[in-house]
Amino acid sequence: MSNPISEKFPFQSHYIGVENTNIHFVDETTKEKADTVFLFVHGNPTSSYLWRNIIPYTIPYGRCIALDLVGFGKSGKPDIEYTFQDNIKYFNSFVSKLNLTNIILVVHDWGGAIGFNYAKYHPENIKGIVFMETFCKPMEWKDLDILTRFVFKKFRDNKTGQKWNGKYNAFLRFILPMSINRKLTEKEKLYYFSPFKTIADRKPIIKFPQELPFKGEGTLNESIAEDYFNWLKKSSIPKLLLYANPGVQIQSKEIDLYKSVFKNLTTAFIGNGKHYIQEDQPDKIGEAIEQWYLLNW
Ligand code: BEZ
Repeated sequence: MSNPISEKFPFQSHYIGVENTNIHFVDETTKEKADTVFLFVHGNPTSSYLWRNIIPYTIPYGRCIALDLVGFGKSGKPDIEYTFQDNIKYFNSFVSKLNLTNIILVVHDWGGAIGFNYAKYHPENIKGIVFMETFCKPMEWKDLDILTRFVFKKFRDNKTGQKWNGKYNAFLRFILPMSINRKLTEKEKLYYFSPFKTIADRKPIIKFPQELPFKGEGTLNESIAEDYFNWLKKSSIPKLLLYANPGVQIQSKEIDLYKSVFKNLTTAFIGNGKHYIQEDQPDKIGEAIEQWYLLNW
């Protein structure tokens, strides 16, 4: 049964010192002794708020931790470059500080890249991986529609990226709403916009598109993505791919590829959605994770 999509974020805030800043996270469970950790990792330009209507489905089964990546949500905004490498450092340090093991990663967008890389290097801490609308391998321009291709090429040009995502706040004002089928409420918009009031606050949003690993560019990020793709192919850790119609980063070509090359992969179609599918199909996502968890453990 589907609930109306709630704008409420009914979770207590926690903070932990990581490197030179504080990372904000929620930490919820109804279990007396929770062995499994569901670790929710968002992407650009969202926060733990993205997972608010999905967390309730996993709360009966384990400890549910949703963090705000460095520079996002209520986490600190240290004076760093916000590269993929920076994100890897802060995320890995967060997981290690909280001593998390038995982790089921639940990842979206850049949260996928950050989580997959962690899993490749710490498979002993990973129990399962749920992924949606993310890049499991270097991206290819030809796979993006013409408008996305045009806009992201502009975002990747440093001067235009600064202007569009810094001065005009384009990612939050246009990419976010255009990539959700329903209209966000004023309160939901406030949650997403409030961490990014000034141009300086928007540094992490500006940087992420410039860090996307594209095939053939010979960047360090491309090789990190190739490496985690090769690991995902070999690893027998249970995986759940959730996909929508039409999707953006995961469309039929990627679904077919992942089905044919990933070991121990379950797939579930969750209905219509573009990129921020948690804002259109939270119940379908929650139900699919719950079903997959109960089948596997
Ligand atoms: C993103 O970084 O959020 C993104 C990249 C390519 C297509 C859509 C979204």
